[in-house]
Amino acid sequence: MRHVSREKRGQILGLDPQKIFRGCTVWFTGLSGAGKTSLSFALEELLVSNGIPAYSLDGDNMRTGLNKNLGFSKHDREENIRRIAEVAKLFADAGFICLCSFVSPFKSDRENARKIHEEGNLPFFEVFVDTPMDICEQRDVKGLYRKARKGLIKTFTGVGQEYEKPENPNIVIKTANSSIDECVQMVMEMLLENGILP
Ligand code: PPS
Ligand code: MG
Repeated sequence: MRHVSREKRGQILGLDPQKIFRGCTVWFTGLSGAGKTSLSFALEELLVSNGIPAYSLDGDNMRTGLNKNLGFSKHDREENIRRIAEVAKLFADAGFICLCSFVSPFKSDRENARKIHEEGNLPFFEVFVDTPMDICEQRDVKGLYRKARKGLIKTFTGVGQEYEKPENPNIVIKTANSSIDECVQMVMEMLLENGILP
């Protein structure tokens, strides 16, 4: 039996008068270039500026460290998502709102991430960042679509490998129709409605 309860941890985190435990994971899934990381970073900034502990996990801090031995085969993506979900669960258990932005193209991997959280009695919200492929490809921020079209990245999501759309996400965000701020507000409302935010 641990000596520090979630409630106790919640008491020392956050600025709101109730000081409740609000640990959970918000999981952004969508195509490369859909806007997952931009959304997650903007939300992290808003939450932290309001005294609410939040931490973003994405390719830049996971694929360069803990998961640097993994590539983009179906098997490696499964292991990538499994490890990330386990890390997110620990952040959530510690009382943080953990924001995860990963392509996570396979339904079974996302379901496993949810299961990992639910087994630990921690809320898990799946956010489908639903940006059409042609828009992601037009943006092509990292030039990866161009490379994939040339056949240089065989496993690129949406080109050489499938993206399985979420069937039952907690929320769908259409970044093509709204500003980042509007999208952030939609996620904030979802957190409010679910009792995560006061
Ligand atoms: S996954 O599917 O969840 O394991 O992928 P993830 O860890 O999110 O990594 C995706 C980012 O890596 C870049 N990249 C690729 N994406 C998709 N398919 C292939 N083959 C690939 N190779 C490299 C890409 O920049 C992704 O980042 P985002 O931010 O989503 O564009
Ligand atoms: Mg990203």
